This record gives sequence, C-alpha cells and structure tokens, in this order.
Amino acid sequence: MIQILDKQFDLFITREQIDRDITAIAEKINADYAERKPLLIGTLNGAFIFAADLVRKLNFEHEIQFTKISSYDGMDTTGEVKELIGLTVDITGRDVIIVEDIIDTGTTMSHLVPQLKAKGARSVEIAALLMKPGKLKVPLDVKYCAMEIPNEFIVGYGLDYDNYGRNYADIYVVKE
Ligand code: IMP
Ligand code: MG
Repeated sequence: MIQILDKQFDLFITREQIDRDITAIAEKINADYAERKPLLIGTLNGAFIFAADLVRKLNFEHEIQFTKISSYDGMDTTGEVKELIGLTVDITGRDVIIVEDIIDTGTTMSHLVPQLKAKGARSVEIAALLMKPGKLKVPLDVKYCAMEIPNEFIVGYGLDYDNYGRNYADIYVVKE
C-alpha cells in the first residue's frame, strides 16, 4: 500500500505485467507501420513513461513529438479540453499515432483525433496504455490498447493524483 496526499492506494498492475502488455501492442504496431515513418505524438504529462517504453520496442523509423492537453482536475474530468502546449511540427500527409496514457471518458481523444485530421494528417490512430471501457462517453476507435481496466482511479507509471505519484514503476488503485 502507498499513500499519496490524502489517499491510499493498493498495488494493481505490476511492472512485469505492464511490460508484457506493451510488448504485445508494440508487436502489432511494428507489423502495421514498417516503412511508413509515422509520427508518434505523446500526450503530456501522463504518457511520458509509456511513450519512452513503447518507442524502445518499435523496430521501424519514426519521429516522436509531444503535446499537452488537459481535461482533468484532481480526480474528475472537466468535460472540456485545453491545449496547454501545442504541436510545432507540420503533420500534413503524415501517419500519426497518438500515444496516450489512459482513456477514461474519451473526451480528450475525441477532440484531438479530429484536430489532427483537420491539420492534414493522412491517418490518425490511438495507442493507449489503459482504457476504462465502462466510462467511455463518446464512440472512439482505439486501435492499440495495452490493458482494459474497471472504473477505478489509478496512479503510477506516469499517471498522477494531483500531479503526484507518476514515479511509481507499478500501477496502484485508490482504496475505497
Ligand atoms: P478522458 O478525456 O476522460 O478520456 O481522460 C483522459 C485523461 O484523464 C488521461 O489522459 C489522464 O491524464 C486522465 N485520467 C483518466 N483516468 C485517470 C486515472 O485513473 N488516473 C490518473 N489520470 C487519469
Ligand atoms: Mg493523458
């Protein structure tokens, strides 16, 4: 058990399991993107560790950039998406893979995908470490998802609770 700010969390997904599940989606991405030189776009802050581990399992040439968008405050989604750090590269004609830590309501991705298409991307797919299918509010096509979890709040492996707890190598779930 760990304590972050006012909450306690229990071990939920071990680093070994995370590594196995990332290896599995990396194999699919390797099969689909050989020769396409895609542009990966990591979403800050949450996806920084997932992106770092994922790209080291990719065996084709690719570029990685980051953007920072936010729909979350504390433990609740706010329903609106703010672009805090924008993309600085031209994505016209590029095959884009968004690298996202976790899809909860789907609000963030349902705004970002059309934005990238409107900027001229040839294709846009999502690679997510985690997804809570029970909380999805909008239809979303997630081509690569490493793990599906129930509707619980989690921290670690890049995910935070009010900006703390990103450093844990394993993933923890909030205690009721
Ligand atoms: P959505 O827009 O509701 O899909 O929310 C996605 C974003 O909310 C993710 O990129 C995370 O930054 C954050 N988020 C969603 N669920 C959790 C969680 O359980 N722990 C920490 N952050 C979360
Ligand atoms: Mg995120």
